[in-house]
Amino acid sequence: MKKILITGGAGFIGNHVVRRFVNKYPDYEIYNLDSLTYAGNLENLTDIDKKPNYHFIKGDIADQEFIMNLFQEYQFDGVIHLAAESHVDRSIKDPMTFVHTNVLGTVHLLNAARTIWNGNWEGKKYYQISTDEVYGALGDTGSFKETTPYNPHSPYSAAKASADHFVRAYHDTYGMPTVVSNCSNNYGPYQFPEKLIPLFINNIKNNKPLPVYGKGINVRDWLYVEDHAEAIDLIFHEAKPGETYNIGGNNEWRNIDLIKKLIEIMDRKLGRPEGTSLQLITYVTDRAGHDLRYAIDPTKIKNELGWEPKVKFAEGFEKTVDWYLANEEWFNHVTSGAYVEYYKKMYEGR
Ligand code: NAD
Ligand code: TYD
Repeated sequence: MKKILITGGAGFIGNHVVRRFVNKYPDYEIYNLDSLTYAGNLENLTDIDKKPNYHFIKGDIADQEFIMNLFQEYQFDGVIHLAAESHVDRSIKDPMTFVHTNVLGTVHLLNAARTIWNGNWEGKKYYQISTDEVYGALGDTGSFKETTPYNPHSPYSAAKASADHFVRAYHDTYGMPTVVSNCSNNYGPYQFPEKLIPLFINNIKNNKPLPVYGKGINVRDWLYVEDHAEAIDLIFHEAKPGETYNIGGNNEWRNIDLIKKLIEIMDRKLGRPEGTSLQLITYVTDRAGHDLRYAIDPTKIKNELGWEPKVKFAEGFEKTVDWYLANEEWFNHVTSGAYVEYYKKMYEGR
């Protein structure tokens, strides 16, 4: 019997990781710790939340006393840490929330694990889920390797980079069995519609303008979220302490090309004449510090752990659009209330 703490399990990637672990490992007890910010939604887990090996705990990872008591009570064997403030645009408006959760929250988790494990590292693992954004921005060529120096540009990526440094420091200083993975942009079901793909699906559906930042020439490397969850499973079980793995989709798209592809799919699925929604494209003021290009070199994870993305982009993208169109109720819930205010604050007058 293993007790695994997964933080941020009510968020986008977290719910896919929790689902995978709960279903695949009935002999593990899975504890999903989440403070349920705007991005956390228990509706994301209704298909598995009655399973006997699933447990939900509401709480803030940056609450030092609460976290220490939690580790004392449950004596976790492993931690998969996904909880974070994750949206670059929000980090530009409100950096301190990112310091609170991404930096302080991570260090409190590390301290609690270190205290409870107390040097008995056998069978223990602390796994930090990070992003390729910590590496900074690429020009037209090249890709991020595990050895690429950190060079973050946004408050979001700076906070994630800081947290990653603490994780590695706890390995190097105390011998804690930590691992880190840095993944490229994820897409798929249950992503909060502040991020490009679900936001644009929602806007196309509702005939609202599509706010393309700058010239739309920034490049992202897109990975289907379940492929990421599979890589996390593999790394959690197979990676040696102190290791880092980059995870990517070998799937680079310029924003504007991705948006045109999305419009093509959406117009077809909504029964609109081809190209109808192209008129919604609206170029707006660029994001401050907007990284030009991200691309992952996934050679290490392929060679050492045999992982490769399984879902082809054409298939994953169609599946994603189908999911959002079929889950109108989910969309309506997450885009009501505070979302309306968020949208105004972020896009009005841009
Ligand atoms: P998300 O914003 O959808 O979910 C984050 C979750 O963390 C939410 O459920 C939220 O309620 C919870 N949370 C936030 N602050 C908390 C706190 N103080 N205490 C407890 N819970 C808190 O994020 P996501 O896209 O699922 O990303 C998950 C992780 O993966 C993050 O660490 C992110 O940096 C990393 N990542 C994301 C991507 C991506 O494309 N989305 C790519 C690479 C890495
Ligand atoms: P996003 O989904 O926020 O992910 P990240 O910033 O972590 O890569 O954005 C993906 C790309 O899309 C990024 O280059 C910014 C751009 N973008 C827009 O052009 N308009 C938008 O409204 C949003 C949210 C993003």
